[in-house]
Amino acid sequence: MSSSTAIGIDIGGTGIKGAVVDLSTGALLSPRVKLPTPKGGRPQDIIETTRQLLATVSSGTSDLPIGVCFPAVVKHGHTMSAANVSDKWIGLAAERLFEKGLGVPIHFVNDADAAGYAESQFGAARDVDGVVLLTTLGTGIGTALINDGELVPNTELGHLEIDGVDYETRAAFSAKERDNLSWEKWAARLQKYYSRLEALFTPDLFIVGGGVSKHHEDFLPLLHLDTRIIPAVHRNNAGILGAAALAVKYAPVTA
Ligand code: BGC
Repeated sequence: MSSSTAIGIDIGGTGIKGAVVDLSTGALLSPRVKLPTPKGGRPQDIIETTRQLLATVSSGTSDLPIGVCFPAVVKHGHTMSAANVSDKWIGLAAERLFEKGLGVPIHFVNDADAAGYAESQFGAARDVDGVVLLTTLGTGIGTALINDGELVPNTELGHLEIDGVDYETRAAFSAKERDNLSWEKWAARLQKYYSRLEALFTPDLFIVGGGVSKHHEDFLPLLHLDTRIIPAVHRNNAGILGAAALAVKYAPVTA
């Protein structure tokens, strides 16, 4: 298979998902496999589940580039934070540990960065010039900053402090559920959040991802911003697509 095919794996708080991706179109070339994230989210357990998933996804294909995305700051292959996962990940040489456990090289990135890159290649930010800010509203808030198609990794703007608190604890979708908020009440929190982002970055476009973005008609029209704000195109598959695409973009060149 050509380098326009790769495997993407998206590790989340509840599930680990993966598939083979056609990078010329962004289509999945295999069924999407999903396994539950092991309780506690400890490194060795997650690596073992990822190994099982990869064995299913890659059956019949070999030597494809593999991208893995994860909900933490990822710097030079190390996981540097753990907002919604076991704190055993902090400071871990995660990329190396995955490679050891899986027996193959991988490219390891932050989950929101993967989703943002997927939107810039195959989705809502395709061919959009300037500054695009993707936010994923889920358990936490993930962010990806893209300028003229180039990703600036690890922005972590979900943790902006507003009203004296880490604002993902108020504006993530999990906060809507926890506090039993109506769309209107939740939108008031989102308004504060996106207004702050707008003031800091003056983006050309906001993209809203995460599972809740399929209900975008219930909350995006309630927001008043100067910047256009639109739902992501790829919700469940964005991490898979972006991780696969980044694995190829950053694959070591072999002679
Ligand atoms: C983490 C980010 C992650 C986001 C979405 C945040 O709590 O700090 O690294 O991208 O959740 O999963």
